[in-house]
Amino acid sequence: MDNIRVFLSSFLFLVCSLAQFCHSIDTLTKSQSIKDGDASGNLISTDEKFELGFFSPGNSTLRYVGVWYHKIEEQTVVWVANRNNPVSNKNGSFSIGSDGNLMVLDGNSNAVWSSNASIESNTTAAKLTDDGNFILASSENIGAVDKAYWQSFEHPTDTYLPGMRVRVNPNTGDNHAFASWKSVSDPSLGNYTLGVDPHGAPQIIIWEHMKRRWRSGQWNSVIFTGVPDTANLASFLYGFKLSPPESDGSMYFTYNPAIASDLLRFRISWDGHEEQLRWNEGNKNWTITQRQPDNKCELYNHCGDFGICNKLESPKCRCMDGFVPKHVEQWNRGNRSDGCVRRTKLQCERNGSVAAQNGGGEDGFKGFECMKLPDSADILQLGQSESCEERCLQNCSCTAYSEITGIGCMIWSGNLVDVQEFNKGGSILKIHIRLADSELGGKRAISNAVIIVVVVVGSFVLAISAWLFWRFKGEIEALCKDSPMSCCKSSNVKIIDPSSREFSLDLSGPSEGFVIDGSQVNSADLPMYNFNAVAAATDNFSEENKLGQGGFGPVYKGKLPEGQEIAVKRLSRKSGQGDEEFKNEIIMIAKLQHRSLVRLMGCCIEGEEKMLLYEYMPNKSLDFFLFDPEKQGLLDWTKRFSIIEGIARGLLYLHRDSRLRIIHRDLKASNILLDEEMNPKISDFGMARIFGGNQNEANTLRVVGTYGYMSPEYAMEGLFSVKSDVYSFGVLLLEIVTGRRNTSFRTSDYCSLIGYAWHLWNEGKAMDLIDPKIWESCDREQAKRCIHIGMLCVQDSAMYRPTMASVVLMLESEAPTIPIPRQPTFTSRRSSVDVDCFSEVHDTVSSNDLTVTMVAGR
Ligand SMILES: *[C@@H]1O[C@H](CO)[C@@H](O)[C@H](O)[C@H]1NC(C)=O
Ligand SMILES: *[C@@H]1O[C@H](CO)[C@@H](O)[C@H](O)[C@H]1NC(C)=O
Ligand SMILES: *[C@@H]1O[C@H](CO)[C@@H](O)[C@H](O)[C@H]1NC(C)=O
Ligand SMILES: *[C@@H]1O[C@H](CO)[C@@H](O)[C@H](O)[C@H]1NC(C)=O
Ligand SMILES: *[C@@H]1O[C@H](CO)[C@@H](O)[C@H](O)[C@H]1NC(C)=O
Ligand SMILES: *[C@@H]1O[C@H](CO)[C@@H](O)[C@H](O)[C@H]1NC(C)=O
Ligand SMILES: *[C@@H]1O[C@H](CO)[C@@H](O)[C@H](O)[C@H]1NC(C)=O
Ligand SMILES: *[C@@H]1O[C@H](CO)[C@@H](O)[C@H](O)[C@H]1NC(C)=O
Ligand SMILES: *[C@@H]1O[C@H](CO)[C@@H](O)[C@H](O)[C@H]1NC(C)=O
Repeated sequence: MDNIRVFLSSFLFLVCSLAQFCHSIDTLTKSQSIKDGDASGNLISTDEKFELGFFSPGNSTLRYVGVWYHKIEEQTVVWVANRNNPVSNKNGSFSIGSDGNLMVLDGNSNAVWSSNASIESNTTAAKLTDDGNFILASSENIGAVDKAYWQSFEHPTDTYLPGMRVRVNPNTGDNHAFASWKSVSDPSLGNYTLGVDPHGAPQIIIWEHMKRRWRSGQWNSVIFTGVPDTANLASFLYGFKLSPPESDGSMYFTYNPAIASDLLRFRISWDGHEEQLRWNEGNKNWTITQRQPDNKCELYNHCGDFGICNKLESPKCRCMDGFVPKHVEQWNRGNRSDGCVRRTKLQCERNGSVAAQNGGGEDGFKGFECMKLPDSADILQLGQSESCEERCLQNCSCTAYSEITGIGCMIWSGNLVDVQEFNKGGSILKIHIRLADSELGGKRAISNAVIIVVVVVGSFVLAISAWLFWRFKGEIEALCKDSPMSCCKSSNVKIIDPSSREFSLDLSGPSEGFVIDGSQVNSADLPMYNFNAVAAATDNFSEENKLGQGGFGPVYKGKLPEGQEIAVKRLSRKSGQGDEEFKNEIIMIAKLQHRSLVRLMGCCIEGEEKMLLYEYMPNKSLDFFLFDPEKQGLLDWTKRFSIIEGIARGLLYLHRDSRLRIIHRDLKASNILLDEEMNPKISDFGMARIFGGNQNEANTLRVVGTYGYMSPEYAMEGLFSVKSDVYSFGVLLLEIVTGRRNTSFRTSDYCSLIGYAWHLWNEGKAMDLIDPKIWESCDREQAKRCIHIGMLCVQDSAMYRPTMASVVLMLESEAPTIPIPRQPTFTSRRSSVDVDCFSEVHDTVSSNDLTVTMVAGR
């Protein structure tokens, strides 16, 4: 019996491999051909994802050879062979010709299309692979991409599929890799092409014929900077990657979907839009997750040279500061094609005598934030001690410069083309535009009369506003409560999420210096207390009043004469700043107000004594509850999630406030205080700014931080950025979900919570991580998403960590496309070497979360 069965199955297998009447053949050989009208001869990839054969698009009756998704009923064609030469009846065939090339033949056996590759082998075969590539190679190397004579991925039509490589080569110029169909029913070459402009920092471009129609903005090695934040989140933020240059200077863009099993494609639609589509298995249709250009402002240079487009403003177009419409009449009629021109010539453009007449001072720069940076930038390699600004000033034809992390120093010569202003978003893109001296301050131009009017009107408005604030204090407070601040103007944006539900996200917030407390009308005015007053309030800094020892000195509880309770931080270290500088810094920090930040109520500077007065938080700090077996249960899942959200929003506010952009650098459970309702309040923000100096991404000499919360690049190289805070946030998030300390985490195999969490998450056992105390109250999906986000935040490479803006979006949007995190190795690989465990080091330093300050090498 067994023998017969074996024989039968071998026989069937043989028949299947030789003959054409079996399904699921993925390879075309010389002896075969695909005949139109006989769909059983079509090639189908091994995993049955893709199919190749003859088809007619839309209403057309013409016949084309193409590749489409096998299992999707609504025929979705991703590649067409003979797009410009269809077969007019159903008598065509597709086969391998005598020269080894692929051929489409009409009823009279005339070739209407050939792969036209130069082939050295006598016998070739072509295979349809699981990623949708159709590869022609010698019959010894069937399906081998690197041995291919020809492959459809190198001759795409209008569709990009994950797995394709798009060449970027500055020496060969623009690469119009994809060309639109003419219409839904006509795959022949349309008016639009999509591809990459390799000049400088590469950009994705849509051309209409040869004219630019849209561009993605410069690639900063993580995202395309000119794509609005939200669209970036849907697709651009993650997934794209640019390979290092090969010997001929070519680099390649590739795209990896966040979820490997997703059916995703990008295409240039027949009407000129770049679209990302995702198959929605539930609805059985394709969802457009992202589409560009999406509004008029995104059309190339919509407002003309030196114009700025803002889609929320009316009219959308305006000239840059210091510029006026070239033809005012045309401009006012809505014809912006001529753009704007400089109001005052640059000093360097004027001739000597003229310059003298104008009393010309030197040209300078004015900065603008949140801009889609102009097209045609040059990237400069700066020498040591050279600044981008100086380099731009040296050349009169340089009109603007910008320094962007991931790109470097960019300068623009001549006109500034295609500038758009974003209303919000993580794109902290600042451009410095060159202006004549008189355009910069503008003070000289303002007469005394104007000043008087401004002062009178200003005071009146102020008085009215003050009264209004006082009158409607409650309402305003309620209004502002939920909104973290973004670096740009407030707005509501819509993003299309992959499940095709639209949702809007409001990240607007109170304007700068806005103070709700009625006693503080002038925001620049931080109450200064004298030492005696503070001493009296804290009962002379008595031991009973001591709340704890924070990173920068002891903290005392106090009571002001009016009865208000406060917490006083007595700074024990020298700030390295003068008193005046210190005071300015404190006032700046006091202006940061958000419901998730502890409020600074005053300060005291007297000689060596420097103290900060905060609002008092009765519920102590998060670690007090989170890591105490008795109290853990008090924080149920709802509370924990709202704490996570609160911290994320507070941190987003710190990272994006336009003036300060605070990096916390010491985020940890003991720095999260809790108010009466257990709302989280981040404390100690701005401390690094006072003590650590420069707040840009930088290499710092002093590392301020806490073991277990420090990102690898910060702990090892002293490199910090907003992404190091994201790392700390990730650790904190995992701690909140698990109820366990990262630093004192120990099992036989793992010495850090992160390594352990990764292990469980990776095995699909994320739920095992959750604090048993909250199993009952836990929303499983939400908790899983939190762990997923936590894993993204603690990735070794800062580049792959999301920004806080994305974190907030991911936490709140339920967007299903969250990228897959990479395994964190920094903490987990130490598991075998006990002594190296951070917990070990930590435990010997102190039993509680002490802040460690160490001096890195010079
Ligand atoms: C096909 O033709 C019908 C009638 O002419 C038209 O309504 C429909 O829009 C066409 N469909 C496509 C995909 O072109
Ligand atoms: C296609 O082939 C069929 C039969 O093979 C024949 O009857 C028909 O005339 C052919 N059509 C054309 C246009 O050659
Ligand atoms: C085939 O390729 C050769 C060079 O490789 C080129 O000269 C010729 O025009 C091509 N033919 C077609 C039909 O594309
Ligand atoms: C191709 O075939 C010719 C004769 O038909 C033979 O001489 C040659 O060696 C073959 N080449 C290869 C690569 O097999
Ligand atoms: C393509 O361009 C031609 C000529 O410029 C125009 O007539 C036609 O309407 C355009 N088609 C599309 C789809 O825009
Ligand atoms: C997809 O299907 C759902 C449900 O059938 C429908 O609501 C939605 O509009 C469809 N989307 C598109 C793009 O057709
Ligand atoms: C816009 O103005 C330019 C030059 O001033 C002119 O050539 C062009 O025809 C105008 N366009 C429209 C639509 O009026
Ligand atoms: C400078 O002066 C020369 C001669 O007087 C004139 O030809 C030139 O156009 C001037 N340049 C500018 C920028 O005004
Ligand atoms: C100034 O910039 C222009 C345009 O980039 C360039 O052609 C020229 O050589 C530069 N001049 C100097 C002196 O660098």
